[in-house]
This record gives sequence, C-alpha cells and structure tokens, in this order.
Amino acid sequence: MKVLLVGGGGREHAIAWKLSKSKLCKHLYIAPGNPGTGEYGTNVDISDTDLDGILKYCQNKRIDFVVVGPEDPLAMGLVDKLEDAGIKAFGPSEAAAQLEGDKVFAKEVMRANNIPTAETKAFTDYEEAKMYIASRDTGVVVKAAGLAKGKGVFVCDEPSDAILAAEKIMVNRIFGDAGDRVVVEEKLTGQEASILAFVDGRTIAVMETSQDHKPIGDGDTGPNTGGMGAYSPAPVVTQRLMDQIVRDILLPVVDGMNRNETPYKGVLYAGLMLTAGGPKVLEFNCRFGDPETQPVLMRLQSDLLEIMLAVRDGRLNEMDLKWDSRPTVCVVMASGGYPGDYEKGKVIKGISEAEELEGVKVFHAGTTHKDGKVVTNGGRVLGVTAIGGSLAESQALAYEAVERISFEGAYWRTDIAAKALAKKVK
Ligand code: AMP
Ligand code: GLY
Repeated sequence: MKVLLVGGGGREHAIAWKLSKSKLCKHLYIAPGNPGTGEYGTNVDISDTDLDGILKYCQNKRIDFVVVGPEDPLAMGLVDKLEDAGIKAFGPSEAAAQLEGDKVFAKEVMRANNIPTAETKAFTDYEEAKMYIASRDTGVVVKAAGLAKGKGVFVCDEPSDAILAAEKIMVNRIFGDAGDRVVVEEKLTGQEASILAFVDGRTIAVMETSQDHKPIGDGDTGPNTGGMGAYSPAPVVTQRLMDQIVRDILLPVVDGMNRNETPYKGVLYAGLMLTAGGPKVLEFNCRFGDPETQPVLMRLQSDLLEIMLAVRDGRLNEMDLKWDSRPTVCVVMASGGYPGDYEKGKVIKGISEAEELEGVKVFHAGTTHKDGKVVTNGGRVLGVTAIGGSLAESQALAYEAVERISFEGAYWRTDIAAKALAKKVK
C-alpha cells in the first residue's frame, strides 16, 4: 500500500524508518519530512498543518493510509478530514486530540474519571492567577493551556517566578492564543516516566517504557525543552507499577473518552510523575513522544504498519507486540541557544561516521539540505540513538557516536540515562 506520513521531526524519522520495513508498505511519502526521512521514501513539500494540501495530495496520489505524527495537525482535525473523504488515517480525531490540545479539557477528563493528577486551577484573568499564586506557599507550575511545543510549562519554586511566568503567558502572550487560559498546579516531585500505548478505542497495548529529559541542562537544570534525550526501558517502572498505571490511569481515560463520545484511537502518551503517593499524570499527549519514539521504536520488532492499521480498524486485540529486550539511549544534539534563540544553517559533519558504529542510528530532526550538504534547521537537530547489551553500553555507544558528529554551536546533555544507571548501582 501507499502510505503518507505527516510530520518532519526526529519522531517522524524513526516512524518512517519502521514503516519502510513493513512488508505492507509499497511506497512511503513524507510531508514535509527531513533529509533523514528522505532515505526511506519520497519527501513531499507540504507543511504538516496544510490540511487541504495534504488531502489533495492523498487524493491525487491515491494514498491508502495516512499516519499523522505531530500534535498540531491532529488537534486541527486532519484525521477527521481524511476519514470523511474516505482515506484511512492513524491518529485521534480532533475532539479526542483535545486531551493534549487543551490542558483544561484534559484536567476535566481526569477529574471526572478520578485519575490521579496534580491539584489544579485554571485562569483566564491574569490578576486572578497572580492572587492565587501569591496565596500558595509551595512550589507551583504554570502552564499555557494550549499547544506550545513543550515549552509552555514553567516549574517554579518561588511565587515571584510563577507570577512572572503567568505574566509572560497571559500579558506578554509569548505563546499567542495558546496562553488565553493558564493552568496553575501544585509542583510534584519524583521521577518522570513516559508511558506510550496504542489504543483502538477499546484495547490498550502498552509500549515499552521510556524516560525523557525535559530541561536543557545536566542534572535537570534550566528551562524546559521539547526533550533533550530519552532511554528505554525506564527501570523505575516495575511491572507492578505498570499494572497500577494501566488500571488507574489508562483504562479510566479510555473509558472516559468513550463516555464523552470522543473515543480515543491512536497513540496515547501519559507523561507521569512517580510520586511517593503513586503515579500522577503531568500531561496526556495524543501522539508519539519526541524523542521517546526514537529509543522506543528502535526496540520494536513487530510490524509498525500492521499495528497502526489494526488500531485504525479496531482490531488491536489481534496484535502481539514484540520487543527487543536490549535497552536503547537517545541523545539529542541541539543548536546552541535552544530553547531560546539559535542560528540555523550550520554544516553538520560526521553522521555517516557515527552510523558506522554497530547499533547506532542517527535520527534527523531540525536538519535540511543546502548546497548538497546537510545543515542545521531547528533547535533539536539530531537524535543519536544506540542499542547495546546493557543500558551502560547503550549510553556509552550513544555518546561515542555523538563525539563523531560536529556542527558549530552543537550542544547536548551529558547525563542522558544517568538516573537509571545510578539506581542500578545502589
Ligand atoms: P507537561 O508538558 O505538562 O508535561 O510539562 C512539561 C514538563 O514540566 C514535565 O515533563 C515536567 O518535567 C514538568 N512538570 C509539569 N507539570 C509538573 C508538576 N505538576 N510538577 C512538577 N513538574 C511538572
Ligand atoms: N518529549 C515530550 C513530548 O514529546 O511531548
């Protein structure tokens, strides 16, 4: 079949790589893709938010199946638009994608279904938000309610920092309309884990666990980013904990979405804080995580396209997901300055040398071609991902590969997977 993948980040490079291995995939198109996805199919110059352009292309090319990677086109209703035109698509409907697209909606679903999460209050008025924050004596987290590319969250220990964050979002409108409403919530402590699951409206097939590294700096310091690296599995999530997560979080949200008449189909991503009082939801995402997808899909042995088709058709119960037991580590190489301002167009060297190392795959994120060379074109540039015999081996391999790659201003965290390794030693 002819498959179109929508998106162009590191996550999409990993998805394209897996889809291209499927025996069912005759040809893969990627809109807009990146130089990495171009190795597995045809990149098509259509933006991932150009819904009409994507539909027209699918009709002209007689595309059989569309896989939507990023949250923006999902929240804009791309899956509904394609399905209405008779084109099969993987991903949640516009209504179901609000679980990520609107944090206030997500909190309502959690409250209605007794799903453990941080205590929260939503605001549309800055003065009210300011008064509420000033009345708190613990750390608070201030979040723009809409989509802000993972940067709309400010974790603050001091009320004065939280008030400043609310001002930036609500008064200075640094995230535009995404900051019309703000969610202020209690600051939770613990380790984080990303739980990704395929959901077909009824059946939930949980993927292998992973842990993201959101802050820009080593030791989880500095502002949040889209994610600076990830590893899989996250040993902190034991089987017992996973059973609890499925029972107390995933099943209730899938049931709740059905009762809401917004049934959930696609990838459901629960970002959790594993607190002393049990796992609590930080956020739901309506898609694969980036960079979690890179280390997680590297371990998937089953046919990704078959699974996605089963999700679309509501027969996920027929699937049996097979995983490589070896751990994976993904280190994100970013442009200097990210998540603030950064320059683009820096020539990237050493990708093929890095991939000469056995077990290493370099996923492109913010890259493009210029004068026959691969150059930087975004904040997160590459996801250097490795699979080895142990977590320590995979980590060492990923960093050995990173050392072979260079571009001006390249920045990466040096402690990806360190938390899991420290735990093992104890
Ligand atoms: P979100 O996009 O809501 O997952 O938030 C991004 C990141 O901010 C999370 O991965 C956490 O690192 C942090 N965060 C969000 N909410 C909280 C919270 N209530 N307590 C502590 N950290 C949080
Ligand atoms: N890595 C976090 C996310 O994809 O939202």
